[in-house]
Amino acid sequence: MNRLLLALPLSLLMAAPAMADLALATSKNCMACHAIDKKVVGPAYKDVAAKYAGQKDAADKLVLKVMKGGGGVWGPVPMPANPQVSEAEAKKLVAWVLSQK
Ligand code: HEC
Repeated sequence: MNRLLLALPLSLLMAAPAMADLALATSKNCMACHAIDKKVVGPAYKDVAAKYAGQKDAADKLVLKVMKGGGGVWGPVPMPANPQVSEAEAKKLVAWVLSQK
């Protein structure tokens, strides 16, 4: 009987972190080279999520790559290091990238 009342605030709670992570990605300059659903300088985050779907160790690798940069996966252009991002922030950003569908 209370289910409908509970469902609404819960869905709002679930939506808020996703928006916070987009704000984080924007403030860390990620969105200068990336978009969620189209290639810019770097790959679309949806394509990244699709490529690594189901790979358990992908997140750890990507966290390192976001912090230190690197290339050779998506094309000739490498991603520069992002020293403005802490490891905790990189983890948050990668989890958010991998959750894009
Ligand atoms: C100067 C442009 C630029 C910026 C800024 C940038 N990226 Fe990238 N990113 C790239 C390019 C280019 C690639 C493709 C590299 C490759 O082919 O291996 C990439 C690849 C990636 C990948 C996939 C890596 C892989 O090995 O599949 C992730 C995840 C990613 N970026 C996240 C981020 C995040 C998070 C930020 C912000 C902290 C960020 N990027 C900032 C250009 C950028």
